[in-house]
Order: sequence, then C-alpha cells, then structure tokens
Amino acid sequence: MHAVSISGTGVFTPEQTISNAELVAAFNAYADRQNALHADEIERGEREPVPQSDEGFIVKASGIESRYVLDKKGTLDPEIMHPVLPERSDDELSVMAEMALKAATVALEKSGRTAADIDAVICAASNHERAYPAIAIEVQQALGINGFAFDMNIACSSATFGIQAAADMIRSGSARAILMVNPEICSAHLEWRDRDCHFIFGDVCTAVILERADLATAPGRFEIVSTRCLTQFSNNIRNNNGFLRRTREGHMQDRRDMLFRQEGRKVFKQVVPIVIDLILGHLADEDLKPGDLERLWLHQANKGMNDMIGARVLGRTPEKGEQPNILQDYANTSSAGSIIAFSKYSDDLEPGALGVICSFGAGYSAGSVIVRKAA
Ligand code: COA
Repeated sequence: MHAVSISGTGVFTPEQTISNAELVAAFNAYADRQNALHADEIERGEREPVPQSDEGFIVKASGIESRYVLDKKGTLDPEIMHPVLPERSDDELSVMAEMALKAATVALEKSGRTAADIDAVICAASNHERAYPAIAIEVQQALGINGFAFDMNIACSSATFGIQAAADMIRSGSARAILMVNPEICSAHLEWRDRDCHFIFGDVCTAVILERADLATAPGRFEIVSTRCLTQFSNNIRNNNGFLRRTREGHMQDRRDMLFRQEGRKVFKQVVPIVIDLILGHLADEDLKPGDLERLWLHQANKGMNDMIGARVLGRTPEKGEQPNILQDYANTSSAGSIIAFSKYSDDLEPGALGVICSFGAGYSAGSVIVRKAA
C-alpha cells in the first residue's frame, strides 16, 4: 500500500460577482413586477404576494456577502432571473471542462507535475452538464492525459469523496497520480426567484493533484493520514433534474422541483451533529485528539453551522484563522468550498501540522480527510 500526498491545488474563480445589494435589488424588482402583474388576484386573496428579500437577513442567516457567477446579466435581469449560458456545439469544450482546465493548470503547476505524470481524472461535482460522455474524459483529452477518467456526484461532498476515491486507487497501485476537479456551476441549478434560497450559491472550480507520497516533490504538500465518508438518505436537500425529466411534463426552468430546494432549518439541525460525530470519531480512530488539529477546512454553506461545528470539535471557540471561511466572498460553492478554504489557507502551516478537510451536504453526505503537512 502506498502513502498518498496532496501535491497541489488550484482554484478557478469566475470574473463576475454579485453583491448582496445587487442580488436583493434584482430580486425585489422581480417581486414588484410579479405583484403588479397579479395585483387583482392578490387583492382578492387568491394569491400571496412575493415578499421582499433583505440584505441584513442574508448576512445574519448565512454569513454570505457576495458570490462569483458565470453570468451576472441574465441572473440579475428581473425578466430572466437565471444565468444565460449559450449552448455549445458538441465540438466545443463544455463549460465545466473549461473551468476544470483552468483550475487544473494551476494545480498541476503547484504540484510540479505535467499531464504525462497523471494516470486518471475524476470530475466530482454536484451537477453535471450532461450525462455522457463524462466531463472528466473531456478534461483528460484536453490535457493529453493517458489512462482513464470518470465523473462522480455526491453533491456537496463530491470533493472529499473524490479525494477518498483517488487516494484509495493510489494506495492500491491502480494509479500513480490523479487529477480531481470540482467544476460547480451552482448558479444554473439555483432558483433565483425563491427568496428563501436565492442568496445561497455561487460558481467556481477547484482542482486537486493526488499522488504517491514516495514520488511527490512539491514544496508545501500534504500527506493524507486517512479519509472517511458517510451517507444517510434524506429528502431535505433535493434536485429532481434527473435522467427521467423528458418523460414528465414541464420545462426545467418552470419546474421548481428540478432546481435546488431544501428545508434549510432541518438541514442545519440534522447535519451539524452528523459532521461533529464524523470528525471526532475519525480523529479517535487515528489516535488523534481535537487539540492535535491546527486547522479545519470546512464545507462552506453557512457561517453559523461552521462556527458550531468548529466549537464542538475543538471544545472551544476556534481562534481567528484556525477555521477559515471563504463563503462571505464565494457563497456556497457546493463541493468546492472546503477545497477553496484549503487551497487559500494552508501555505502558512509548518511541517507536521495536522488539519481536517470536511464537507457535508445533500444525500445526506459527509466526508472527512485528515492531512499532515509534509516535512
Ligand atoms: N430575506 C428576508 N427574509 C427571508 C429571506 C430573505 N432572503 N429568506 C427567508 N426569509 C424569512 C423566512 O421567510 C422566514 O420568515 P418567517 O419567520 O416569517 O417564516 C425567516 O426569514 C427565517 O427563515 P428560515 O428559512 O427559517 O431562515 P434560517 O435562519 O434557517 O436561514 C438558511 C436559512 C438557508 C441560510 C439556513 O437554514 C441554512 O444555511 N441552512 C443549512 C443549509 C445547508 O447547509 N444546505 C446545504 C446546501 S448544499
């Protein structure tokens, strides 16, 4: 069995941002239009008016201040309220592959590796642009990587499950080095016309290079101590945009159940204890104590959730920087969130430092990756 290193990470951040102020202005313009359009029904009590959104609520409830998106114009147009991403022909690079290439290029450079060193590509994301051919195979071809590639989806836990899948393959010898990418176009799966969730998501792509530790040379690399994944079925976060959609009536944009929806309060209450137990159990099984950890790179969905998980895992309020949040700038970017935090806030750690990358989300699913900074 081979030990496994995380030798490099990369983040592709789209150029366009939407601040809470811009988001709320667009939503409220949409609400005003809807309410004017249906004024008679509202007056007769046959229809509820669309309520106004509020910047103060968004920051207090989630900690999110802004998000990056692939298309700001369509998303903020009260007549459209979703990203407009022109369809691409089969001969053009898909959007997810394009994002993945940008993040992968950075990760490859950081790891000191080229396409020739990589034996496999995993594209792990919450939503895939198409069923097949796999986005991962497109990325493999575009980079000129030999070997094999496949897509996988475990919603917000896709990246940590992807790390476990890659690490297991490297440990057992079926690959020397693997590129794992997480292109998350969350904006296309969000109902921007729903006040309860329109503020939640943003777009991004992360990439991770994993390889045999005895072959790794990159400065600042981490060794994977161990990984642990768990799932437990729940309908509280759901998107019905599955492969049977053409057999039902209704176009995707008009079918609320075919976009992201959740029971946010239930998710908060049910997922927090799952994650705390996962991390504490994982540490105990490795003969580690919470006090041994120097950093927690948590999934980025809600600041309140992360504050609670950090405090319960460490047994005290985390010090500034011990549990970095990026969701104020990126919002929830699904599986990419914990990897963005890891990528941006890990260079300062000393050799030997221990940390946990942890994701959680729909499924329910949760993944914990204990890493140690290499000497
Ligand atoms: N502006 C103003 N008011 C809003 C609002 C908005 N944008 N969105 C919701 N509200 C209102 C609600 O209608 C509700 O009003 P009511 O009390 O009159 O019914 C009130 O604010 C509280 O709403 P609620 O949904 O209970 O808020 P919350 O405190 O639970 O925060 C989330 C909502 C989604 C931020 C929070 O539940 C969360 O983050 N949950 C975890 C989600 C998660 O991790 N999901 C994984 C996704 S992959």
